[in-house]
Amino acid sequence: MSLGASLDRSSQPLGLAPQLPVEFNPLLPEFIANPYPFYQRLQTEDPVHRSTLLPDSWILTRYADAAMVLRDPRFGRQDAARFFQERFGAGPVVDVYTKWMLFRDPPDHTRLRTLVSKAFTPRAIENLRPRIQILVDELLGAVQAAGQMDIMNAIAYPLPVLVICEMLGVPAKDRDVFQAWSGDVARTLDPIQTPETVARGHAVVARMCDYFRELIAELRHAPKDDLLSAMIVAEEQGDRLTEEELLANCILLFSAGHETTVNLIGNGMLALLRYPDQRKKLAEHPELIESAVEEFLRYEGPVQITGRGTQHDIEIGGKQIKAGERIFTILAAANRDPAQFPDPDRLDITRRESRHLAFGYGIHFCLGAALARLEAQSAINTMLRRMPRLALQTDTVQWRPAFTLRGLQELPVTF
Ligand code: HEM
Repeated sequence: MSLGASLDRSSQPLGLAPQLPVEFNPLLPEFIANPYPFYQRLQTEDPVHRSTLLPDSWILTRYADAAMVLRDPRFGRQDAARFFQERFGAGPVVDVYTKWMLFRDPPDHTRLRTLVSKAFTPRAIENLRPRIQILVDELLGAVQAAGQMDIMNAIAYPLPVLVICEMLGVPAKDRDVFQAWSGDVARTLDPIQTPETVARGHAVVARMCDYFRELIAELRHAPKDDLLSAMIVAEEQGDRLTEEELLANCILLFSAGHETTVNLIGNGMLALLRYPDQRKKLAEHPELIESAVEEFLRYEGPVQITGRGTQHDIEIGGKQIKAGERIFTILAAANRDPAQFPDPDRLDITRRESRHLAFGYGIHFCLGAALARLEAQSAINTMLRRMPRLALQTDTVQWRPAFTLRGLQELPVTF
């Protein structure tokens, strides 16, 4: 996409001819380049959209509908096993993902989340602030003299990996291996798979299982002061966590803890570089960083979509959803709903009380939200301070082909 083209919803991409009924097709290259015009048409023309691509599925784009579904216990994870089974068939993806707290309903969800939530409270995360700042300074220090960098490689990718490795107790020396995994893991969350992505998905999850099984075995013998050792103690103390749940949720924390935050830092910096007035404002008023990061989450969220199942017949927006059908809430569309956010296509780092859905809503609200916020705040403010002449190096950006998790391949800049 040309940087000259505004990332708003008014530009009409190819493949979205106004006379044709709007459809949800995240496979179109123009959708990956800029999904917002598609969201806008869905929101105004067919906000509770029966998918023509995904069987028995509905696409919800309005803020009020998405928030309702995420909060209402009639919509849950009952169909997560079927969802992954249909896409991947039997194998590691299904075995592991169906044990993630993210894909469980209460009481399993409550039990699994309670076990790790202490490590993620705002106070526990606040204690990490000095360490995160040291990591940010080290990473930027390593490229400072070069006068140019790829933001993704220099900081957006390594920072969240280093932090989650330290929290969990995973040796950071293996971080190149993790980078190779992360794209394949991200792709497994997309609602549409190809035979190739299925094979890669199973392979990457199997490799992660081998890696973490070995690490868990080591930590069993020599526990350390980290989250994984604490989870192992919980597993050994009885019926609170089975061995397979331990493995699966360790993989969840590890995966959720980096790919998403990588994209918050990358998407946030791209937005700032495209809106020089906002970037100037933030550089002059670094104390605006908290509302700025909330605005990046709203404007170009790293998690675009999530899904729920239902066992009830329910009416939403005049449409009859049948028991057993699937609902996809497009968080990134809800976050640009003009009924909730005035002038939603405008990046405004001073926007107040932004109740965006980028971290979800309800019982599955992102466990790592405080951590992701802190990492992004520290990385972005430090870049602006240390590199005041930061500028994009090329006039095109390449988005990764994944759809559920939206992020850049690279973001080359000079400074
Ligand atoms: C900008 C970064 C992040 C974004 C945008 C994000 C987004 C989300 C969203 C939307 C959900 C809810 C999905 C749903 O309801 O279906 C979620 C759940 C979750 N996130 Fe994050 N996340 C981020 C960073 C992190 C980090 C850093 C961690 C951990 C280290 C993490 C761990 C989790 C976990 C464990 C869940 C499942 C919670 C549950 O099921 O109760 N996330 N995240």
